[in-house]
Amino acid sequence: AEDGYDLWLRYAPLDSGYRATVAPHVAQIVAATGNPQVDAAADELARGLTGMVGRAPARATTAPVEGAVLLATAGSPLLAGVALPFERLGKEGYVVRSATIAGKRVTIVAGNSGQGVLYGAFRLLKLIQTRQPIAALDIVDAPKLQVRVLNHWDNLSRSIERGYAGLSLWDWQKLPHYKDPRYTDYARANASIGINATVLNNVNANADILTPEYLHKVAALAEVFRPWGIRVYLTARFSAPIEIGGLKTADPLDPAVAAWWKAKVDEIYGIIPDFGGFVVKANSEGQPGPNDYNRSHAEGANMMADALAPHGGVMMWRAFVYAAENAEDRHKQAYTEFKPLDGKFRDNVLVQVKNGAIDFQPREPFHPLFGAMPRTPLMMEFQITKEYLGFATHLAYLGTMWEEVLQADTFRPARGNTVAKVIETPVDAGAATGMAGVANIGNDRNWSGSQFDQANWYAFGRFAWDPQARAKDIAQDWAAMTWGPGAAAPIVDMMMASREAVVDYMTPLGLGHLMATGHHYGPGPWVSDLARPEWNPVYYHKADAAGIGFDRTRTGSDALGQYAPQLVARWGNLKTVPDSLLLWFHHVPWDHRMASGRSLWDELVTRYDTGVGAVTAMQGQWQGLQGKVDPVRWAEVRDFLSIQHDEAQWWRDASVAYFQSIAKRPLPAGHAPPP
Ligand code: GCU
Repeated sequence: AEDGYDLWLRYAPLDSGYRATVAPHVAQIVAATGNPQVDAAADELARGLTGMVGRAPARATTAPVEGAVLLATAGSPLLAGVALPFERLGKEGYVVRSATIAGKRVTIVAGNSGQGVLYGAFRLLKLIQTRQPIAALDIVDAPKLQVRVLNHWDNLSRSIERGYAGLSLWDWQKLPHYKDPRYTDYARANASIGINATVLNNVNANADILTPEYLHKVAALAEVFRPWGIRVYLTARFSAPIEIGGLKTADPLDPAVAAWWKAKVDEIYGIIPDFGGFVVKANSEGQPGPNDYNRSHAEGANMMADALAPHGGVMMWRAFVYAAENAEDRHKQAYTEFKPLDGKFRDNVLVQVKNGAIDFQPREPFHPLFGAMPRTPLMMEFQITKEYLGFATHLAYLGTMWEEVLQADTFRPARGNTVAKVIETPVDAGAATGMAGVANIGNDRNWSGSQFDQANWYAFGRFAWDPQARAKDIAQDWAAMTWGPGAAAPIVDMMMASREAVVDYMTPLGLGHLMATGHHYGPGPWVSDLARPEWNPVYYHKADAAGIGFDRTRTGSDALGQYAPQLVARWGNLKTVPDSLLLWFHHVPWDHRMASGRSLWDELVTRYDTGVGAVTAMQGQWQGLQGKVDPVRWAEVRDFLSIQHDEAQWWRDASVAYFQSIAKRPLPAGHAPPP
């Protein structure tokens, strides 16, 4: 469909030249049926090949013909006599290999499980979608993280917290009896990028989801997702024993509370045998938690983890904590609270840490907890939905931001231990690993609220599969699959520059959290009247007559001291801190000389101009694609870019005017005046 519904699984017809090289290798699909995930793989392959090659491949369960694709799990008689590296594939990996069996040239797609086969089938489809040769394949791949999970911030009313793509997909009123076919398409899309888990409800949770009425609805979704290798998880409200259990307390050390959770978890597994586990937001932004009873986060998490453990369930406990009563720099609070708990969590607990210490800003340094809790499984939390980057209208590819965070060196315990390595190395044999992404999915026809936000869903899956992946490779695949290989190159260029453009027109030079409060859309650096100090933008930029920026060095809050000594040295020194983090860590005089030779004030204004200019450039690049991509999606993107351009100017003009009222310096020569 030309409205974006098909995402990156469009399966558009191949040009005849390339098609001629593919067709001989996809004459037939051979799969022993009975395994629901292998069946799903065969169906998807048939669907994709039918679209791309132009005719449906023959299907068989035995005896491949020349040019067959063989889908099989380890031990299948179909693979008799073929040696494959199953020992390298783990539970979910796959091999895609060209081979000759009984004199017939075939392509083998194999894994230790149906899930591996499914991922392998999507890999073969991607090769064709991106026009790779498929005659001599030998690919082995396996995910580096175990739990690759979307976090839906969906309320039971179907509104979505920070959602910009319509209402929740989950139609609770019609579930469990009516299963919208869209649930299957959602699962297909996730499986295609290796996502194997989904948390259905908001971290600010309503305990009702844990009642039998809802659990049966959840079970219906789990049933749709199962053939696609996706397990369902739920956000559990810590005070649920009070709200739906009739207890007087939710104290994690009270035996009645622990017994209630144990019974609740047993009940859930009775209804959903492959239930994944819980996520909990505790003692954060008004949510209940163990601190209400003077218990630690570890005591709370472990009590629930113990209930899940007999079933193999996982407890994802969020480290996004800061309190209104706490005057400590918000940047420091999670580390202060969690670091002393290192080693105190059960093995089936994953502590879920946002990429930065504040809140999903266009740029933040990596969270200081990464590398600081070597005995605790930490999972990454990224936000796919663009709460702070212009919602669905602004084009901002987040792959570059995620790569920047994942490739950051924690210097703990030593140089080279990047954030990616921290999260992908199990703290001990069998300990959990994972990555969570706050979903940007709703019931809009195009799922994400914009064509380009689909790329962020796609990229999240790819980074969760391989935290060492590169944003550019991912953008190339996505653009070729979504817009066609002929249009990919300029689209990739746009994507790769897009997030830095947002940084420049919203929060350049290490500024952060300057968005209008509440909704976080549009500029609000002047806002100072909210009751909670750390919700006011002025708390973050601290502009005054002398300069601008948050002194987080030893002369200030010393949040910098939570990082490794190498980073304290590098980021703490005005000569070595990168421009991109300057005002995150320092309060800098307006006349400070920058590497560019400009004063800080002139540099700030110049960055705002650069951001607007980058959006103008994207508009030009998009103009050049008219007629090269379908007109419906093209026009939508053109209009969104024009909104983004207006709003980039709004950000620049409002921010520059406000900061000028404090800096009291003239605008630099060449600064474009407001239109
Ligand atoms: C942000 C966001 C909230 C959300 C919170 C969280 O602060 O604005 O809507 O609940 O993050 O991650 O828990």
